[in-house]
Amino acid sequence: MQETFTIAQLQEIILNHKKAGKTIGFVPTMGALHAGHISLINKARAENNFVVCSIFINPTQFNDQNDLIKYPRTPELDKQLLLNAGCDILFSPTVNEMYPVKDERIFDLGGLDKVMEGVYRPGHFNGVVQIVLKLFDAVKPNRAYFGKKDFQQLAIIKYITKQLNLPIQIIPCETIREEDGLAMSSRNIRLNSVERNQAIQLSKALFFVKENAPHLSVKELKQKVNEMLSCYDLIKTEYFEIADSETLQPVDTVTPDKTVACIAAYVGNVRLIDNISL
Ligand code: PAF
Repeated sequence: MQETFTIAQLQEIILNHKKAGKTIGFVPTMGALHAGHISLINKARAENNFVVCSIFINPTQFNDQNDLIKYPRTPELDKQLLLNAGCDILFSPTVNEMYPVKDERIFDLGGLDKVMEGVYRPGHFNGVVQIVLKLFDAVKPNRAYFGKKDFQQLAIIKYITKQLNLPIQIIPCETIREEDGLAMSSRNIRLNSVERNQAIQLSKALFFVKENAPHLSVKELKQKVNEMLSCYDLIKTEYFEIADSETLQPVDTVTPDKTVACIAAYVGNVRLIDNISL
């Protein structure tokens, strides 16, 4: 696996592979890789001839500077995991490489950024779109892979790709869970053992909602989840929402396969998100 740090070098390598008729699969990440990321690499490998992974902790998507400072960094382990997974190129740019000048672009995201995460992390999705478009422009992939765990992010990337007519196929990938149900996240390594034990309540609540959606109302489901989670002293729920899977607007009734339940909560000082399709 080659590692490159500049857009110019990355493009030179990719161009050669494109000229040879290869398709490019791209997995953008912020590092601290886990089995969830590796499942994206595996899918990209299965569907393309050449796989690019980027590791870049994007400062413009952090509305909380403390969160940026504390974001987990495991560069050596990441490289090993990518090598083992058969990734072809790792792109690890500096902040200066990606943002040679301040990015002042503000995107209209069709209202998808105004709900759930958007309420609690103002500007977050604008920052995500800034970096994803820069990365798409650098890599020019045929396909790009995003986890469903960041459901709202995925909806927004799909939207902006369509809006800008980008010739890139966005491939959603299933959430990978620990054996006890906790959704894999780079942030999980920041949980201490007591927090880790309580964190599983988030996925338990979502599984409860999926099982009971056919016979309880949305109002009842929300009440039950609040009751379930309020028993745990380290869990502070920011939102639990039942929404339309495409518009992300809250719904009063569940339509099978067209509705998603989403949750964001602090477990101790660690903010986690998860979701389940109903
Ligand atoms: O999901 C992530 O890891 C990030 O938001 C992304 C898509 C790599 C952009 O920085």
